[in-house]
Amino acid sequence: MDGVLTDTVELHYQSFKKLAMEEKVPFNREINEQLRGLSREDSLALVFKDRVLEQPELQRLMVKKNKYFLELAASMTSKDLALGVTDLLELLKRRNIKIALASSSKNTKFIIQKLGIESYFNSISDGYSVRQAKPAPDLFLHAAGSLNITPNACIVVEDAAAGIEAAHAAKMIVIGIGPEKRVGNADFIFPSINTVDLDYVLNEVHKKSAVKES
Ligand code: G6P
Repeated sequence: MDGVLTDTVELHYQSFKKLAMEEKVPFNREINEQLRGLSREDSLALVFKDRVLEQPELQRLMVKKNKYFLELAASMTSKDLALGVTDLLELLKRRNIKIALASSSKNTKFIIQKLGIESYFNSISDGYSVRQAKPAPDLFLHAAGSLNITPNACIVVEDAAAGIEAAHAAKMIVIGIGPEKRVGNADFIFPSINTVDLDYVLNEVHKKSAVKES
């Protein structure tokens, strides 16, 4: 979701920046990029890597970070959808391809409602669905299970290196959205959602599975 369907990466950056300044720890866009796809807890651990955080302190920081994030996300609307998202979701629906949302975020349902696209998804797996966050495969396996589809029949759309690793660990094919530097390990790479060529991807996937079967 974050960084694929909408650019909440910027809102996460702003809220972490505010927290980091208050707590006097270094934070910049480069560090923010490393947080793509990670859970809130794992992100905080990375931002505060030079500080030993006991559970109550970690909880306090997570609550604060999320408060800042929600303040910023409150004004989100369907205008914040990334270009081409609705077209791609419509195309998938027309093709009878099931759609699952798999995000590490605990704010997934809130954001999706703000964006007005909840009805497109056959299932939603979020930060509450599994214990082990990306790069573990658990979230994607949860999504495949909710759709009742075997993992190797799933194609994941990801913007983060941690997510690509998670999808491959789940034995799924991955479309990477973004620069080669970030999503270079994906099976297919497109700079943005509105440039995804679904027919090309499906053809290639079918060709590969035909070779495997023969
Ligand atoms: C997403 C984003 C991360 C974010 C994480 C947790 O996967 O890519 O940058 O930190 O979700 O989000 P949350 O909304 O639960 O704080």
